[in-house]
Amino acid sequence: MILYNDKLVNKEDVNISYEDRGYNFGDGVYEVFRTYGGTVFALDEHLQRLERSAEAISLALPCAADEIGGRIERLVAAEKIADGTVYLQITRGRAPRAHAFPEQAEPVLVAYCSELQRPQRLMTEGIKAITLPDIRWLRCDIKSLNLLPNVMAKQKAAECGAGEAILHRDGTVTECSASNVMIVKDGVIHTHPANSFILHGVTRSIVLKLADGLGIPVREEPFTLAMLSQADEVFITSTTMEITPVIAVDHGAIGAGRPGPVTRTLQEAFARLIRR
Ligand code: PDD
Repeated sequence: MILYNDKLVNKEDVNISYEDRGYNFGDGVYEVFRTYGGTVFALDEHLQRLERSAEAISLALPCAADEIGGRIERLVAAEKIADGTVYLQITRGRAPRAHAFPEQAEPVLVAYCSELQRPQRLMTEGIKAITLPDIRWLRCDIKSLNLLPNVMAKQKAAECGAGEAILHRDGTVTECSASNVMIVKDGVIHTHPANSFILHGVTRSIVLKLADGLGIPVREEPFTLAMLSQADEVFITSTTMEITPVIAVDHGAIGAGRPGPVTRTLQEAFARLIRR
């Protein structure tokens, strides 16, 4: 089933126009939710970010955010998905192609579920990453449909045999193509502050709260590529990758070249949270 505006329909009954502004301009916003055991994880945090993203592009949501949450829960129940994701996007709708906002268009909402197991092997073994210049716009806090620079960065990583691309602006590390990044140096977590240069990851803020509860100091301050390569530990966070260690960056090993103790402690705390 697909959630199509306010109804659950079969996929044959989704009718998206070639004039949809999401298709023509990337004019819309999206969210990726996670389900564990049939329950949507951090639903409110994702809905709040969806509201912020929509407001930032002057897109009126088709209904209240909690109503969207209810529809997502009905979709997950109908699909009987235990561990999976829900992809949701809302575009400014259908109108003859012209850049300025149309007067008449109705927003178009589409959401669907996919099964996804937790990335156990990657979380245990870690991934390699490459670094690339962050060529995105200056409102990376908006979860907009315009993902071309992210797509290109992830593709470059794949071509290099790496799992993620860590992005930097003039040597300052921001985030990754589809995740946030944190480093650990001398027991302190460093991560870019949640401003307009990064997406304010739901997993990022959960991890920072877990770190606080565990007494691990955190500095939400910009850090450099040099600090990245000299870190004791590096890990990425996202809804789908949870907390995944990065064991090498641009062919140089991070720390001992295997997942470190702070990363593992946070992974265990995150797993306890999921179980709760
Ligand atoms: N990506 N930064 C970027 C650029 C992202 O695309 C994502 C998520 C994150 C992590 O945010 P969160 O913890 O809220 O998932 C950070 C999703 C999963 C995606 O586009 O598939």
